[in-house]
Amino acid sequence: MNSLPRPDIGPFADTPEKRWVGVSFGAAAVGYDGVAALQREVGESLLAGIRHLGPPPARMLDLGAGTGHFSGLLVAAFPTAECLALDIAEGMLRFLRSHRPGADGMGLVVGDAEALPLADESVDLIFSNMAFQWCERLDRAISECCRVLRPGGRLAFSTFGEATLGELRMAWRAVDGYTHVNAFATRRSVEQELRAQGFTKIRLDARTLRRGYPSVLALMKELKALGARNLTRNRPRHLLSRHTLERVSEAYGRLPGMASAVTASFEVLTALVEK
Ligand SMILES: C[S@@+](CC[C@H](N)C(=O)[O-])C[C@H]1O[C@@H](n2cnc3c(N)ncnc32)[C@H](O)[C@@H]1O
Repeated sequence: MNSLPRPDIGPFADTPEKRWVGVSFGAAAVGYDGVAALQREVGESLLAGIRHLGPPPARMLDLGAGTGHFSGLLVAAFPTAECLALDIAEGMLRFLRSHRPGADGMGLVVGDAEALPLADESVDLIFSNMAFQWCERLDRAISECCRVLRPGGRLAFSTFGEATLGELRMAWRAVDGYTHVNAFATRRSVEQELRAQGFTKIRLDARTLRRGYPSVLALMKELKALGARNLTRNRPRHLLSRHTLERVSEAYGRLPGMASAVTASFEVLTALVEK
């Protein structure tokens, strides 16, 4: 399929507009846990990877904590550590405070991963599950983690890789010239950035999870319910018509292997590193 011409709106056309990220996730907070099965699966294996890695932290940060599912599990795994749950979406932290057992003992911080409101070398462990793909600049988020970690501190994060939602991206390309799916990081760029920041003991994994959906519309609805709306600068600013949605469904169905079932790929990158 050929790409249609697209407006020239600069190098960040496919990255999310930050001012809307907090709003979108805040609005999704109430329903988020009910639809975040993939995020949970990824986070559980990330957490398993750090449980027995090095000494227990004194201070840990759940970065992009969302509803705090993993903040709670971090507290259970490291009960003597102080836990900070930080998110750009105030609505997420409000939900965490009123629904997550143990929230009273956590420090809740509204903040941006790309400009952490934390002192240099003040944290021993940073856990971040499925949040970095929402940053405008992943390199800034990684360098902020490096800044706030104490020497010997650990960073464990997961994010989406470039193949994520490749089918949906391709189907939309046949329909219009807008961006409908964020650009995600490549494994190579993540590795380069971790090395550039001086992280050591780098363990970086990439795996692709595939999920089936009853229809393309069901896939798009799930993304919306997760708060994972299309917030790219080159997104369409008008409502999508029924006809447009039918066209994208048809284009999806013409992709190889998609004639009888709608499958979406999610490339998950996970990194465990030490400062
Ligand atoms: C997919 S949710 C994951 C939530 C949680 N970590 C989990 O695994 O359930 C992504 C979270 O990252 C937050 N987020 C996105 N961009 C962020 C940023 N620049 N700084 C801090 N949090 C951010 C969103 O508000 C959202 O709560």
